Order: sequence, then C-alpha cells, then structure tokens
Amino acid sequence: MKISVIGTGYVGLVTGVSLAEIGHEVICVDTNIEKIEMLKRFKSPIYEPGIEDLIRSNFEAGRLSFELNTAVNYDECEVIYLAVGTPQAEDGTADLTYINQVITDVKASSHEDKIIVTKSTVPVGTNAQIKQKLNEGSDVHFDVVSNPEFLREGSAVKDVFNPERIVLGSDNETAIKVVADINEKFDAPVIQTNFESAEIIKYASNAFLATKISYANMISNLCEATGGDIYAVTYGMGLDHRIGDKFLQAGIGYGGSCFPKDTSALTKIADKYQVDSSIVKSAMKINEQQQTKLVSYLDQIYPNVKGKKISLLGLAFKPETDDIRDAASIKVINELLKRDAEVHVFDPEAMGNIKNIFGEKITYDETVDELLQDSEAALVITEWEVIKKIDLSEFKSKMKRPLILDGRGIFLDADEDSDIEYQTIGRKGAI
Ligand code: UGA
Repeated sequence: MKISVIGTGYVGLVTGVSLAEIGHEVICVDTNIEKIEMLKRFKSPIYEPGIEDLIRSNFEAGRLSFELNTAVNYDECEVIYLAVGTPQAEDGTADLTYINQVITDVKASSHEDKIIVTKSTVPVGTNAQIKQKLNEGSDVHFDVVSNPEFLREGSAVKDVFNPERIVLGSDNETAIKVVADINEKFDAPVIQTNFESAEIIKYASNAFLATKISYANMISNLCEATGGDIYAVTYGMGLDHRIGDKFLQAGIGYGGSCFPKDTSALTKIADKYQVDSSIVKSAMKINEQQQTKLVSYLDQIYPNVKGKKISLLGLAFKPETDDIRDAASIKVINELLKRDAEVHVFDPEAMGNIKNIFGEKITYDETVDELLQDSEAALVITEWEVIKKIDLSEFKSKMKRPLILDGRGIFLDADEDSDIEYQTIGRKGAI
C-alpha cells in the first residue's frame, strides 16, 4: 500500500520508516526543506539509535522517499498518516495549529477518497472534528482513524517493531480494517474502538505512567524523612505483579515532550468537562518539586555556592536522546545561575541543544575528565552508559570536593565510600 506520513519528528519518522520496513511504499512529508534535504542524505533530524540505517536501507530498496509538503501529490496515496506536533499552548491545552494546517492542505489537494490516520496526540473530540472539517463541502470522502503511538524516545526503533497494542479508533469499520491490514505484520493485539476511547487511551496511559513515577518520588521523600530506603521500598513494591517494577524509579522526575504536555492536556480536558483530575494534578505538582531536588540538596550543603564549580553529568531528559524538552537540567541550570555558581555541563548528545538556551553563560566540557576537574559538586541528571561507567576513583582524584548528588541512583556504591560525600534520592546520605 502507498502511504504518506506527514511530519518527520519522532513519531512521523519512526512510523514512516517502520511502515516501509514491513513492505509499504512510504512518502515522508515535511514543511521544513532542511529536514527533507538531510533525510535525502540519510541523516536523521533527530538522534535515535538505529534510525539512520533503516532510512538508508529502505530508501535504497525504493520503499521510502522524502518530499516537501508543497511537492507531494497526496492522490498517489490512499492512506495519509498525520504525525505533526501538538505542542503545549500557553494555557496548557494542546495546540492544534499544525494539525489544522495539514487538514487544510490535504483537503485542498485531494481529488480521490482517502483514509486519514491520526498518530499525533490530540484532545478528546479532535478526530471527530478532523473528519467533519475534511468532509465539509468536499467532493471526495475522508474517513479518519485514530491510531495513537506508544513509542519511547531513545528506544523508538525497538518499540515500533515490538508494539504491545495497536489502538484503532473510528466510526467506520471498513477504515479500521484497512489500517489493521497495514499493521498486520506487527505482532500485537488490535483494539478496535471509537474515536474518543482511542484518544483517551493515549492520554490515560501517559498520565498513569507519569503518576506512577510521581508516586515513587513522593514515597522517596517519605523515605528521606523517615530513614527508609527508596531502592528497597520500590523493589519490595515492584515484586507484587499487581504493581510491577516498571516506571517506579524515583529520581529527578519525568521530563520530555510527552508526560509533561499530556498530563497538562488531560487535566485541561477534565476541567472542560468538570471532571475531577486531582490525582494527575498532584502528580504534576510533585514532579515540579522533584526536578529541582538536587538544588535543594546543594543549598543545604553550600548555603552560598557563588563562584563554585558545579558539574552536571547529563542534560537530556533521558539517555539515548538529545531531547531536552522539559528536562530537569534546564531548571537546575537556571537555579544554579541564580545563585551565581560556575556551571559546567557534559552530555554525549544534548550539549548543542542546551547551548541554544544558555549560550556562554555556562561551560560545555567535552569530556567527563574536564567536567570533574576541580569541581565542588557533581549532579547526576541523566543515566547515560558513559556516565554510569565513571569509576568512583575519578570523583576522588579529580574533584576539589568529592561530592556526588545523584538524581538517578546510579552510584549507590559511593554510599559505602568514606572518601566520597554522597546523596541520592530517597535515602539518607550526606545531608
Ligand atoms: C513516553 C511513553 O513512555 C511512551 O509510551 C509514549 O509513546 C511517549 O511518552 C509519547 O507520548 O510519545 P518518552 O517520553 O519518550 O515516552 O520516555 P519515557 O521512557 O517514558 O521517560 C519519560 C520520563 O520519565 C524520563 O524523563 C525518564 O527519566 C522518567 N522516568 C521514567 C522516571 O523518572 N522513572 C521511571 O521509572 C521511568
């Protein structure tokens, strides 16, 4: 089947490449000429392990191509995937500007019936509106299927080929069948439902996972206050299969382009329908406090941090990505700058993105060695492999004061080392 996928961000690019890999002919479409040119040179505009090899092999096999939105002929494709961004608007709702623009473009240039598959995360009611807008005064007929995406950044390629479920929401069974057939090669249960349920499954899943993380973080604060140990506690909880150990890792909270945006959007939808969403609102509040938890440790150790070299190990919101959207690192750096600290940072992939925000206000060290040299505190932000591998002796030999504030619980052995001052989340330590 010939398919076009509009939007070459995480969701669009990974979807397009995976559909090509299972044998479909796919055109990936974007409004950004630079992105299209990069893709034609097999360069991915996003950092995602494994994606560039798949772009090249599918392009060479003749199944994958890239087009600017103004150059594409949508009538070549029976099915069009919408995978443009739905960023958070000023008021916390999802901004549908890109979706609306695409609908207008597709409608204007379609002369044959089509199925539109919505991959973008959109508020409840949007797919029904999309269908109405497309068909209003149109000579051709559009069906719409909501097909939310559940892949994670950093492991998107692995996730997309191993989905745990395929959710298809529509008011038309034939359209659902077409999209189910497109996905036939993915070995996963297919949930066929209406638009609203499909839309809610996406928000409810992300908000549930975010709430689970905030719950672990709330318990970690209780551990710190009472002498409990969050690592023992979450291990003990996670062995209960009804709870499970996934997304129960306490730390410096969740960031990224999904959990913060989708929790906020869900509460806005609930407010609109006068539904109490205080569970999710509390999860959001706890997350906000947790993201600067390491700074509160630092304040207790250094009431005045002015002029001290403070080192951030990692910047991305999670490993294996250069994404810093809503990353704790941004809040931590802002707080440190307010206190006139000398901020040094290191990240294998995300330094360029952080530089776009902070410019020359902070120092970008190319190696962990440089970062730790003469530093007076190391703050662990992202659990990259290269950071996890740092030997404890490095902190002792290089730092002016071997003080580790560990937001990801990756140097727990340092707790036993009397030459290191160590504080992690959810356990009594140096403070
Ligand atoms: C999340 C969901 O996991 C995906 O299923 C969903 O498709 C995606 O959002 C989306 O809506 O597009 P993602 O944001 O890429 O994926 O990354 P996650 O692996 O979920 O991590 C999110 C944040 O939670 C990270 O900052 C991570 O460090 C944090 N986290 C995760 C914890 O603090 N503790 C945990 O136990 C797990």
